[in-house]
Amino acid sequence: MRPRISKKLEELLCTKSPVREIMDLASPEFFKRVGLDPVQVISFSGGWVNHDSPAELRQAYAEIALDPRRFHASGAYSPTIGTPECRAAIAEYEKHLFGHDMQLGPENIAIGANSTQLTLSLMQLILSPGEKLLLPDPAYCNYPAQAAAVGGVQIVRFPLLDPVQWRYVADERADEFARFILAEKPKMILLCAPDNPTSQVPSTRFVKAALDAAVEVGALLVIDFAYKEIVWGARYPEYFGWGPTDNFVTIHSNSKWCRGLGRRLGWIQAPPEIIEALEAAQAANILCPDTLHQMALADYIRRGIAADSIKPYVMQMIARYEAVARFTVEAVHKHLGVPCIEPQGGLYTVVRVGMDSSEFARRALENAGVVVVPGWGFGDTLKHGVRLSYGPLVNDLEKIDLGVRRLSRVLAAR
Ligand SMILES: Cc1ncc(COP(=O)(O)O)c(C=O)c1O
Repeated sequence: MRPRISKKLEELLCTKSPVREIMDLASPEFFKRVGLDPVQVISFSGGWVNHDSPAELRQAYAEIALDPRRFHASGAYSPTIGTPECRAAIAEYEKHLFGHDMQLGPENIAIGANSTQLTLSLMQLILSPGEKLLLPDPAYCNYPAQAAAVGGVQIVRFPLLDPVQWRYVADERADEFARFILAEKPKMILLCAPDNPTSQVPSTRFVKAALDAAVEVGALLVIDFAYKEIVWGARYPEYFGWGPTDNFVTIHSNSKWCRGLGRRLGWIQAPPEIIEALEAAQAANILCPDTLHQMALADYIRRGIAADSIKPYVMQMIARYEAVARFTVEAVHKHLGVPCIEPQGGLYTVVRVGMDSSEFARRALENAGVVVVPGWGFGDTLKHGVRLSYGPLVNDLEKIDLGVRRLSRVLAAR
């Protein structure tokens, strides 16, 4: 007899991903059937960056690889929540970039395999069946799947995008959001800054209001900082420099800022009790994070702070994504004439297409050879919108222009 899958897996299989939906569609058979040359396809779907990693980080890897003693050491298990050296280096990095006053030490840092694993582990630690997870609408499409993997979690949503006026309304709804928290009493509130998919950065006033309410109802306010470094403007918002507290925890990733997407490494900043709990959880799920990446990152940070090379690298990287974001928004205005959200950082914009998002994404691929991510998977507010990612095309502005021009055919045929 075949073993039955668990209720949890049934729940997980019911959560669809908009990225998977479009990727399943973009198969070789599909291209053949509609007579599309896959080479001509332009994709706005990837949630990834395409700038170069810091040369000094590459150098750090090279030195470890060339030193037999250190390379041998990189093949050993690290402590379950990371090496003391790398945890200390990360604390210094955070203070260096986001504020020397930040209350953060190695005891507040647990390094994991990546931020996806850490988000799931944190949900597993905090959320019991029947408890509520509060997500903004829209929110990163992986969170509901992660909640489903925990099992029995009730997701409640609060709209931060006005789907009619196509405006991000977090600031003006800050007090309402706080009242919603007081009424709903979620156990966890999960925000993202800059946000995926809107690339908006919630204001400090909004985050303060949410945190005050979280403290009152005993909730954990979590900020997913996967795109933390990639914010335009002269300075980062104040809360980027807050250390963790009993009610405030942040999740971080090496994927985007230093283009470490495939060199998997992430960390969490939390009070020591949560760090200790994560240690127990990670012993069960990953045993330990990657040692080589920790060694290279710790070397890179230590030397980069001493030589003051990290900030210039980050500033150059930000300038490139800001330019490509502007270019994308201008192309949307020029060729499509539909509303889109102007990014404040990150890799994406969302565009109102005025029809079912899945249907639009299918037509975009079939009739224009352009891949976009349908908005429905991020929440109801994006049912009639799609996400365009400019991250992978940061070196290819012509493709952005061509892709957006091709989308105008799809809009015209609505
Ligand atoms: C909001 C958000 N969080 C987390 C991740 C994944 O980060 P990591 O590569 O560290 O798992 C992504 C990836 O696109 C993301 O958009």
